[in-house]
Amino acid sequence: MYWKKKTHEQIKEYIFTALEKNLDYRGDRPILGIPGTYLDTTEFYPDAPFLKDAPYMSAMVRNPNHIGVHTLNEESVLEVFEGTQRIEKELIKLVAEEIFNGDTDQQDGYVATGGTEANIQAMWIYRNYFRKEFGARLGEIGLVYSQDSHYSMPKGANLLNLNNIILEVDPDTREISRESLDTKIKAAQKDGIKYFIVIANLSTTMFGSVDDIDMLGDYFTHLNVNFKIHVDAAYGGFIYPFTNPTSRFTFQNPYMNSITADGHKMLQTPYGTGLFLIRKGYFDFVKTDEAQYIPGKDFTISGSRSGANAISMWMILQVHGSEGWKYKMETLCDKSERICKKLERMGVEYFRNPYLNIIAIKAKYMSKDLAHKYYLVANSYEFEPEWFKIVVMPHVKPGTIDAFLMDLESELRGRK
Ligand SMILES: Cc1ncc(COP(=O)(O)O)c(C=O)c1O
Repeated sequence: MYWKKKTHEQIKEYIFTALEKNLDYRGDRPILGIPGTYLDTTEFYPDAPFLKDAPYMSAMVRNPNHIGVHTLNEESVLEVFEGTQRIEKELIKLVAEEIFNGDTDQQDGYVATGGTEANIQAMWIYRNYFRKEFGARLGEIGLVYSQDSHYSMPKGANLLNLNNIILEVDPDTREISRESLDTKIKAAQKDGIKYFIVIANLSTTMFGSVDDIDMLGDYFTHLNVNFKIHVDAAYGGFIYPFTNPTSRFTFQNPYMNSITADGHKMLQTPYGTGLFLIRKGYFDFVKTDEAQYIPGKDFTISGSRSGANAISMWMILQVHGSEGWKYKMETLCDKSERICKKLERMGVEYFRNPYLNIIAIKAKYMSKDLAHKYYLVANSYEFEPEWFKIVVMPHVKPGTIDAFLMDLESELRGRK
């Protein structure tokens, strides 16, 4: 993994050059047929002086539409927004090849609205793949995921008419139980399920637990059934590959067929930046031929989407470079490690994956008031919480960590 950092000036020039290559609604060309334009000028006036130094804001105001998927072929880059759509194409290449170690030009992708859309996009592709390639009926396709998975899984299963197969996890290690895997899959087979869309979490939302993709892949391979694995790295996608040099979540692992990696979590990009990546050859299963007015056709759930989002992701990755980003993510892990060591000294039970910045603390060790004071998130707001999580994000200051740990310690002492 390596890309060199760029300076603010270089980034600015790059984005403004790209914007120049887009059709400019304010320019001289006779644009009569496009149902899009710049942002309303009463509020977003284009001559605001700061805009000339603000490439992302400038892109927002000029409002390029990135509808469709731009990595498929030359036709899929629209002439009207060619400049910025090429930046999105570069972004997909950078993330797929440098962060997830894909072979050159062997992956497609787009910037979805978020992790939910990217996960459902994967399910949609594989559902149609099983139907088109193997004549699968809806009742024969199962969606397999752990009980700790994000709720976008049942949401997607509901939308796409997939059968939910929910695997249990060990209450302490949060690992998928092999016994549960075997029992649930055998039962599903008895119910007529023949095709499996399998989700591997590159960190669950609540625990930061990471599923064993090889265990899942080996299991379904030995079972001799048709399956595809999608990795939900909505949370971990921009941290784990940087902190774990031996990550198994790369395109060199044949089990990983597609992946969701959200910008708007660890990469600190604006909301609306859920990256979806998949091996080449799969987008065709969700081609909407009826998208007749788009020269490259549409393959996404979202339709129209802002080009500024793709730009924001590209900019942040470029301004840090791979080494800068690695340093930043390692620093978050160091801070998390420090908290864990202190918890151990206090005899407080917690769960943490060593390559991530989520610490789930057993709820019995603190009062709800304390959890509330520090905005810790509970695993359930409907039932009695069993866990409270800390997420060591970039805004978390050492002083806040110390204050929390001191409060926790005095609560525990008070109990004794
Ligand atoms: C593991 C995981 N997957 C998917 C999502 C959904 O992402 P979004 O809210 O961007 O749709 C989240 C959000 O927290 C998540 O943590």
